[in-house]
Amino acid sequence: MSQLLLLSLALWASCSPGNTGTAHAPLCSVALVALSQLRVRCRASRYPVAVDCSWTPLWAPNSTTATSFIATYRLGITTAQQSWPCLHPTPQATWCTISHVHLFSMVPYVLNVTALHLSSTRSSLLAFVVERIIKPDPPAGVRLRKAGQRLQVLWHPPASWPFPDIFTLKYRVRYRRHGSSHFRQVGPIEATTFTLRAAQPHTKYCVQVSAQDLTGYGKPSDWSLPGQVDGAPQKP
Ligand SMILES: *[C@@H]1O[C@H](CO)[C@@H](O)[C@H](O)[C@H]1NC(C)=O
Ligand SMILES: *[C@@H]1O[C@H](CO)[C@@H](O)[C@H](O)[C@H]1NC(C)=O
Repeated sequence: MSQLLLLSLALWASCSPGNTGTAHAPLCSVALVALSQLRVRCRASRYPVAVDCSWTPLWAPNSTTATSFIATYRLGITTAQQSWPCLHPTPQATWCTISHVHLFSMVPYVLNVTALHLSSTRSSLLAFVVERIIKPDPPAGVRLRKAGQRLQVLWHPPASWPFPDIFTLKYRVRYRRHGSSHFRQVGPIEATTFTLRAAQPHTKYCVQVSAQDLTGYGKPSDWSLPGQVDGAPQKP
């Protein structure tokens, strides 16, 4: 077994035991740098439809010649497993998509990205389990509706999350008064609306929402854009 594969597997194993649930657990198996070749990342923001991977060369590119890449993946760590192409649009593209995702696999996926530059080739391997790299995009269309002393917050699941009715998301809402530096946070909640009681009238609030897989796999999304007040005049 190659040194690179051993390194990836060691890192994978070191973050495996049961820390899937906590909101701020490190995103294991992502952005592992395999012996300073390529920085490879994979993320499942379209779970369970696809895994999206991207990479950045860590050496100074020789500008006169383009680098091209071969990306393949297999399910399981042994090289005896069949490899499949990770689809990327052009040989120079620095991202690819795995579109046949085996859910709840007992063995990790191994992505192999090989850079071809002049006469040299360098391969980087990344091992990951799909459920651990789930990170939805932020919720969309966050808006605020004032009703007297109450402020209703409404939003949509991220458009990129394919089946929100089946793979339900849970949400956290954070808010602060305009001018305050301190956020209050509520959640997780499963609804796509939340009412802040005792919101002070004539006070502006910054309200943002974050989404995570309901069962707690992976990582919460980044915070959404701040909600806009419904019916507020649009800025020119
Ligand atoms: C870039 O590639 C050219 C052609 O092979 C070579 O002559 C040159 O030394 C390379 N430059 C660097 C910085 O590696
Ligand atoms: C990675 O892919 C390259 C190019 O297809 C191949 O030559 C190499 O053997 C692969 N490495 C492993 C460990 O699968």
